[in-house]
Amino acid sequence: MVVSADDGNPLTQLTLDQLRRRTSVKWRLYPPDVLPLWVAEQDVPLAPPVAEALRRAVELGDTGYSYGTAYAEAVGGFAAQRWDWADFPVGRTTLVPDVMMGTVEVLRLVTGPGDAVVVTPPVYPPFYAFVTNAGRQVLEAPLGADLRLDPAALDEAFRRARAAGDRPAFLLCNPHNPTGVVHRPDELATVAELAARHGVRVVSDEIHSPLALPGARFTPYLTVPGAQNAFALLSASKAWNLAGLKAALAVAGPDAADDLARMPEEVSHGPSHFGVLAHTAAFRAGGPWLDRLLDGLDANRALLGSLLAEHLPTVSWRPPEGTYLAWLDCRDLGVPTEASGDGPPIASDLAGPARMFLDRARVALSSGHVFGSGGAGFVRLNFATSPAVLTEAVSRMGRATRA
Ligand SMILES: Cc1ncc(COP(=O)(O)O)c(C=O)c1O
Repeated sequence: MVVSADDGNPLTQLTLDQLRRRTSVKWRLYPPDVLPLWVAEQDVPLAPPVAEALRRAVELGDTGYSYGTAYAEAVGGFAAQRWDWADFPVGRTTLVPDVMMGTVEVLRLVTGPGDAVVVTPPVYPPFYAFVTNAGRQVLEAPLGADLRLDPAALDEAFRRARAAGDRPAFLLCNPHNPTGVVHRPDELATVAELAARHGVRVVSDEIHSPLALPGARFTPYLTVPGAQNAFALLSASKAWNLAGLKAALAVAGPDAADDLARMPEEVSHGPSHFGVLAHTAAFRAGGPWLDRLLDGLDANRALLGSLLAEHLPTVSWRPPEGTYLAWLDCRDLGVPTEASGDGPPIASDLAGPARMFLDRARVALSSGHVFGSGGAGFVRLNFATSPAVLTEAVSRMGRATRA
């Protein structure tokens, strides 16, 4: 499949043949007849400033250990420009290996063994496994019917979390994966108010923050009134497709500085120097590329809406405000929905509609049940691909439902 290579849209630069030569999990988990629209990798080439930073490092043999605050300064510059976060606290940051490892290390600072960590399902499946593996218990505060944060559910979960242990936490997904909801400032202020009332520490996963799509605006949790004792995790990994170049940044609010000071020094040994170089270049100079990507994702979001209306009229969705993930309600397709198993969900588990689409359409999606309560009967579709692949995938999915 040849796609246009001259419109500057990063999503139309690569052919399927080129993509299939990739060795990452998106392209290797399933056989070549499957269109992979599941894991959060994008079908884009590297942003030029990132490629240039890596090329320079290769030429210099600059392959030692990371040092300095360049990553934090680059995030600070980006945050000031994009989110009006003028006083980004470079001095209250630390490098962490990646967002999930950083999240676990922050949770170790603010909670104790056995304490409760509240999550808002449907939500990124590894939230369950990482929290559980760290010896904390997951407590669910499901999203509302509108797929937004539900203050009453949070209030109740925070109360139960406090009763279950001394030092509870809330793992916020901001923006939210899989719904693509970009939380509004008033919603985040309510979270801060509830967290303060119940003595719950908030850890905000902001990995999708650069991916607020046209029409939405991302609010960094640490800029919200009442969030002074919170932590945030930021990374270039999702927006610039750098999951293979591990690095992320943990940021502490002013009242969490003492907690951050207790972070074991060796945690900052985890990110790779190449990861730090790549992420720094992305935040510092990857803005124009990101803007072209966001335009392409905006167009794909609209295209997906028309494709669903044409090929899968009984599937409903709320177009995401951010991320490149679409959360599709397939409960009216008549496919038996999947049951949740015991223990933390496994992200690559397939059942229900996602299993049907893989078997009959040869399109790989993420199965809703692995996103926790309320996920069964849904699929998550990653639309960070070319319009051609997206069109082919949804057409095939439509044919599969009529077969
Ligand atoms: C909400 C969320 N957090 C964390 C991650 C994983 O990030 P990392 O690879 O930096 O641990 C992802 C990946 O898709 C994600 O969607």
